[in-house]
Amino acid sequence: MNLKSQPINRLSGEVICPGDKSISQRILIIGSFLNCDIRISGFLDAEDPNSTMIALNNLGSSIEKDNDEVLIKKRSEPFSNPSSFLDLGNSGTGMRLLTGFISGLNLEATLIGDESLSKRPMSRVVNPLTAMGKEISTNSGKAPIQIKGGNIKDNFEYVMPIASAQVKSSLMLASMSSGNSIKITEPKITRDHTERMIEYLGGFIETSESFLGKTIFLNKSKLSKISSYEVVGDFSSAAFIIIAALISKNSKVLIKNVGLNKTRSGLLDILLKMNADIEITNERMTCNEACGDILVKSSELVGIEVPKKIIPNIIDEIPILSVAASFAEGKTVIKNASELKVKESDRLNATSMGLKAMNVKHEVLDDGLIINGSHDDIKIHNQIESFGDHRIAMSFLIAGLRSKNGSIVKDCSNIETSFPNFSKIMNNLGMNINE
Ligand code: S3P
Repeated sequence: MNLKSQPINRLSGEVICPGDKSISQRILIIGSFLNCDIRISGFLDAEDPNSTMIALNNLGSSIEKDNDEVLIKKRSEPFSNPSSFLDLGNSGTGMRLLTGFISGLNLEATLIGDESLSKRPMSRVVNPLTAMGKEISTNSGKAPIQIKGGNIKDNFEYVMPIASAQVKSSLMLASMSSGNSIKITEPKITRDHTERMIEYLGGFIETSESFLGKTIFLNKSKLSKISSYEVVGDFSSAAFIIIAALISKNSKVLIKNVGLNKTRSGLLDILLKMNADIEITNERMTCNEACGDILVKSSELVGIEVPKKIIPNIIDEIPILSVAASFAEGKTVIKNASELKVKESDRLNATSMGLKAMNVKHEVLDDGLIINGSHDDIKIHNQIESFGDHRIAMSFLIAGLRSKNGSIVKDCSNIETSFPNFSKIMNNLGMNINE
């Protein structure tokens, strides 16, 4: 499905931020493990969390949707080997986290995914899980992942070669579900939703920092049963709304209930340095996650050099940050972001192709982008390729609002993986996105 985004005059209004994808997936997995009745509100009802939910039900969980909520029910039987392949669709998080979780449960299962997921590197979780004692085979480091026998070792220590919350979480879930302890060191701080959720449930988590990075120690602990859980809004989805409001003229938008976990919201620090008019109100904690409301007004952005340390905390926002940088006066430099090459698409290439169609001067580096922006409207000559990647599609639809002739983005159906109702929500604020 191609979508066209037409130029607009202004954006205004209020919106409630859609639920967080990372947290929705984690509460399904950890909530199933608790084995009690849990009512989840704020759940992101999108393809990625849904494929994780179906996979868990195939393992014996009893999770169902009830209007806007999700109910995890106490199981009458233990988890068991699934009778068919577990299809995680487009979800890297679902595949990597479940590989760890299932490994710890000592079940046998085969995990598969769509064309994009089947090209993504899985040895980053399979290698440490093998070192932890599991027997797992892959198709040359890619899905299908076949989890066979072996027991997870206790007191495993691992220094991660890459900064990845999915790898960290996969190993933590393997330890948790096998009833063991683990110590993991990440070279740069990545999203800590798994740690926060386990801590919220009374699990023992201790962190420390050294020259190697941040070390997370998860000790064996009995987790408390809960009857409800509230998922905060997804900062990564809010990012599209924030940047749409910043780059459009005369705009003022309030986004309510946005997750503001520091390991996720690095884009706010970057945008403030770029001269963005952003105000945070109503800050609070919900289920051990920070959240609040974000008021955004049109701003004359300026380019900046993005600090390397912050990259893992803005990793999913770099395509939309590149759009913001296109409308910021001067140069924006993004480096140390080679992980973008192994996301749902090669996002360095996909972003560069979109910027090219927008006639924005830029340079692609091996690990980033240098973008020379200006406050001028753009003219887009060609249709923009999304490469089937939800975040690329949404980024270049947002760019269309400042184009003279609109942007046409190809193959936008994958927006459903993370942000259903994207067009409707953006159109309610004043955008003009149609098929
Ligand atoms: C995620 C972690 C990040 C992120 C992804 C979701 C998670 O991936 O890009 O969208 O939920 O843990 P990496 O861990 O591969 O960096």
